[in-house]
Amino acid sequence: MDHEACALRLNGLSMRFGPVIAVSDVTLDVRQGHVHALLGENGAGKSTTVKLLSGLITPTNGSIEVFGKPVVLRSPLHAQSLGIQTAFQEMTMLPDLSVMDNMLLPHAPSGATGMLSRRKLRRQIEQHMDELEFDISLDVLVRELNLAVQQKIEIARAAFRKPRILLLDEPTSTLSSSDVEWLGRIIARLKSCGVTIIFISHRMKEVNEFCDDLSILRNGKHIATRPVHEYTHNEVVELIVGRSISQVFPQKTVDQTSDVVLAMENVSSGSACNIDLQLHRGEILGIAALQGMGQLDVFETCFGLRQPQQGRLLLDGKEITLLSPEDAIRTNVGIGFVPEDRKTEGLLLNQSGLKNASLPVLRNFTRWGAIDGQNEANSAAAVFKRINLHERAIWMDASSFSGGNQQKIVIAKWLLARSRILLLFDPTRGIDVGTKHELYELMADFVRHGGAILFYSTEIPEVVNMSHRVHVMYKGRVRATLDGSAISETRVMESAMGQSEVLPEAVNG
Ligand SMILES: Nc1ncnc2c1ncn2[C@@H]1O[C@H](COP(=O)(O)OP(=O)(O)O)[C@@H](O)[C@H]1O
Ligand SMILES: [Mg+2]
Repeated sequence: MDHEACALRLNGLSMRFGPVIAVSDVTLDVRQGHVHALLGENGAGKSTTVKLLSGLITPTNGSIEVFGKPVVLRSPLHAQSLGIQTAFQEMTMLPDLSVMDNMLLPHAPSGATGMLSRRKLRRQIEQHMDELEFDISLDVLVRELNLAVQQKIEIARAAFRKPRILLLDEPTSTLSSSDVEWLGRIIARLKSCGVTIIFISHRMKEVNEFCDDLSILRNGKHIATRPVHEYTHNEVVELIVGRSISQVFPQKTVDQTSDVVLAMENVSSGSACNIDLQLHRGEILGIAALQGMGQLDVFETCFGLRQPQQGRLLLDGKEITLLSPEDAIRTNVGIGFVPEDRKTEGLLLNQSGLKNASLPVLRNFTRWGAIDGQNEANSAAAVFKRINLHERAIWMDASSFSGGNQQKIVIAKWLLARSRILLLFDPTRGIDVGTKHELYELMADFVRHGGAILFYSTEIPEVVNMSHRVHVMYKGRVRATLDGSAISETRVMESAMGQSEVLPEAVNG
């Protein structure tokens, strides 16, 4: 590519963390004014590359050119002075500060001190948020906001500083589809102003829609860079995982039984209304719905996080009351929940993988009031092996793991607890293709061995390809139930958008 036209040029860039080579001899050009996707499995080195380009860390080897000039990025401030702004994957928001204060972090744009300029800044930020069509109160504390809104602030903050180069590290993994469209509009607008953007995502749809060029990293190495349209979808997946994948989804198991392990009878709970549901042993029962259709209330009710206003819950045909997750976890009940936001709900991030995994079953490892550490570690090691999680997960903090591996730890926890019913709520969100594949295999294996899974995913193809039956929810109610070969993306989408309700309502009305 023409040297002049490069916003960024990476020359043999390498980054080593002790024994780990996170980025290995990466040479690639990022064309100025283009949107450049960076793809790769978890652990491929994407975030490390972003950190190198943000001046957060300095490379062990190699060099970086910014707009044709070789630079040594000494600090984030230095990178910012060259026009590089970043929305980091691990968000950098301070929860106890207001949105306004976070917008000014880590430092206010220069010259901004004193009350007057703060007022001025506030007006600027308000105007910026308006331009971004981001409706948010600047005075609310960030901790009160959900993850999606926090992510949007992280993006808005990077855009606020008038970047010439904008790095977006997995900005969409926590966003709803309408927020993704919002980001798409922002990316298009910045691009039309000549901003160069690096965009990291695990979703091909976004890459196809937003990006011009696509680079793939694998094990820290640069594998390919081409215009997006020059790849086929399968090629991208194969280049990412480094092997041909004959099938992304495992064969559906045929071992479902007629034993109903968990049932809801006419349950209304939160925004879920009159839900009838029967989960069989050996079955993956899919729930499909657009955002906020009551699906989370169904899951929370099955885990004792929420009590029904009406109706009953049955376990093995007998009525059961789940007042709290402790009731659901109990060995004779055996329910495990993998929630949507594993970072705050599923894991204790500053605890080791071992501690996280053995948490619900700690009393099994307790003898005479003390924890039998050896037994605990052995049992966890066996489970980690089964889910193909590296041994170092035993002692490393959960925070140091990639999203996919964090999710595996959450699942390890329930396998260790010998759960027989798993409630999986959007478990593959933000996870790379390789690990997704492993999770699918794990799910198939779990039901093949007599478990049962209630499964919701925002990715309709997952629900369609993994589930034996699918309940489609719309506005709190189950609007359609699809079975076997009737399960298709089209049918699911029709019902999820409420199209199947048109007739009955028209009749009633
Ligand atoms: N601070 C660190 N210390 C040790 N290893 C690290 C550190 N940061 C990243 N790694 C390792 O480097 C590799 C690449 O990580 P990362 O760049 O975060 O990948 P990606 O963003 O593509 O998922 C992984 O094996 C990860 O465990
Ligand atoms: Mg990353």
